[in-house]
Amino acid sequence: MSASGGDPDLAWSAVDRFVCEALHVQDTTLTEAAEAARAAGLPDIAVSPAQGRLLNLLVRMSGARRVLEVGTLGGISAIHLARALPPDGRLVTLELDPHHAAAARDAIARAGLDDRVEVRVGRAADSLEALAEDAVAPFDLAFIDADKASYPRYLELVVPLMRSGGVVVADNVVRRGRILRPAGDPNAQGARDVIEAVGRHPRLHATVVQTVGEKGWDGLLIAVVD
Ligand code: SAH
Ligand code: DHB
Ligand code: MG
Repeated sequence: MSASGGDPDLAWSAVDRFVCEALHVQDTTLTEAAEAARAAGLPDIAVSPAQGRLLNLLVRMSGARRVLEVGTLGGISAIHLARALPPDGRLVTLELDPHHAAAARDAIARAGLDDRVEVRVGRAADSLEALAEDAVAPFDLAFIDADKASYPRYLELVVPLMRSGGVVVADNVVRRGRILRPAGDPNAQGARDVIEAVGRHPRLHATVVQTVGEKGWDGLLIAVVD
């Protein structure tokens, strides 16, 4: 008898739990941030612990010192990303909803990362335009995870903010395979469109890593900017 009773989703979750425990992915800070998000009524759509660890590893592997996030929610992915930064590193994370931003600022402060994380409230497209106008130093890694229908626009705005050799990651681009039949589903349409836009982009070299686990079947787009 398998741990799942035959349901692949349950088996994926069971393996996710085993792996995260064996690899010490979750700690008190992350568990408390997840509990605070739930208590504040935030939707349960943050990255899973295993996915968060992957973001952490991507920052480390790329040696990123300046990270940009689009879509903060309660700060779970921001904590994974910011923990990988050197003490003088910086994460700028963009969030529309002031209630989400407040929860994130709390969680980030409790994680001891408020010296390197800035949460900017507003529509992400406006904040990205402001970053371009302010001619901020280029980012080394970007994580796109806000409203999926706007992913193509976010890609367009994010790429010029990246240094050559920078990494762009986008969450939730497989959506249980719904990207193959996206009609009537703006989230699936946005995810499909962004993959195709990356494929056409002269400066981007990318793949999609499909993922399974406690959040079901989804995928991460990972691109390097030439
Ligand atoms: N990255 C987070 C999850 C983000 S969920 C994590 O893994 O922990 C998506 C977030 O994007 C939500 O908080 C939502 O409020 C925000 N969002 C939605 N539309 C937005 C917009 N137009 N601009 C900025 N943020 C937006
Ligand atoms: C949704 C958003 C996310 O960022 C995610 O990781 C999972 C689901 C959503 O909007 O449904
Ligand atoms: Mg996501």
